[in-house]
Amino acid sequence: MPLIHSLYPLLRPLLFKLDAETAHEWTVKMMRMAHTLGLLGTPRHDPKTAVEVLGLTFPNCVGLAAGMDKSASAVEAWFATGFGFVEVGTLTPRPQPGNPTPRLFRLKEHEAIINRMGFNNPGIDSAVHRLERRTSNGIVGVNIGKNFNTPNERAVDDYLYCLRAAYAVADYIAINISSPNTKGLRDLQAEEPLVRLLSVLKEEQMRLQAHHGRYVPLLVKIAPDLGPEQIAMLARVFTTLQIDGVIATNTTLSRDPVQTHPLALEAGGLSGAPLTNRSTEVITALRAVLPTSIPIIGVGGILGIEDATVKLQSGASLVQLYTGLVYRGPILVSQIAALKSK
Ligand SMILES: Cc1cc2nc3c(=O)[nH]c(=O)nc-3n(C[C@H](O)[C@H](O)[C@H](O)COP(=O)(O)O)c2cc1C
Repeated sequence: MPLIHSLYPLLRPLLFKLDAETAHEWTVKMMRMAHTLGLLGTPRHDPKTAVEVLGLTFPNCVGLAAGMDKSASAVEAWFATGFGFVEVGTLTPRPQPGNPTPRLFRLKEHEAIINRMGFNNPGIDSAVHRLERRTSNGIVGVNIGKNFNTPNERAVDDYLYCLRAAYAVADYIAINISSPNTKGLRDLQAEEPLVRLLSVLKEEQMRLQAHHGRYVPLLVKIAPDLGPEQIAMLARVFTTLQIDGVIATNTTLSRDPVQTHPLALEAGGLSGAPLTNRSTEVITALRAVLPTSIPIIGVGGILGIEDATVKLQSGASLVQLYTGLVYRGPILVSQIAALKSK
């Protein structure tokens, strides 16, 4: 058993004594250090867990969701923990500090998190520079967004900048139009702005493919707070524009399952256990209307093998997690990674 699995139950109470953002910063630093010292070991991948999707061979079905390693500072450590792929970001063209603190809250009783980080990140160029110096060839997705002060009418310029910057170092690019903490971002999920944005990015992807001699799939990350008509519209747009995949879902604005919690009224996106069912519902609804050629990465409230299995059975080809790692630790990654592909 990797050392980190036995260490986490000891570390967790200490981390939970710190405020959530400090704990997060410490975790990323510790992971990097532990990897440098060789304490995480090297994951051995069972060929039976490999998943072929997006034209890539994933060593297993579980990835690190965006937001944990926004700046791509500990990518190799996440691979050593057992993740089959790592999504870094969200990254924007210019560095930005994000929202004022406090902006990250644990709702322990619900195994949930509310965050309103607001895309704090060092800027895409800095992350790309880090990724250029990577030592492994593990699968890395780069999640891109727009700066908080770029108006939606010019959002396409920000996404284009990031797509061009990240293309050479990414195995896939995730277009994030679903974070609730950048004003107006989710409006880009409406049909007209969405078609405008994705058409331009798709065209640029073709140009970049010719230039680099390599096809990098474009995925779109969507919100859980969508009705059946919006989901049907999204599926239509993704199919018409030949989007390569969908990541479902981001955090929710809903507070239904946590209404009585003292932190429930904190602004931001809710993740973890209260999101599990809603995110699965979106995956199921999307799978029913999306051609099978467009894979779904299922994310939202995976806190056990059962949650991951349900997402896969509902039509996801791969899964990701963030909040589950906070509450259950790295053993969760190994357990899900051991799931055999169909
Ligand atoms: C603190 C925090 C920061 C996040 N930052 C991002 C982000 O920058 N970009 C993004 O696409 N999703 C972000 N997410 C959303 C996660 O990637 C994921 O979609 C969501 O948390 C649901 O999964 P979970 O329940 O496993 O956490 C963030 C989530 C959390 C908790």
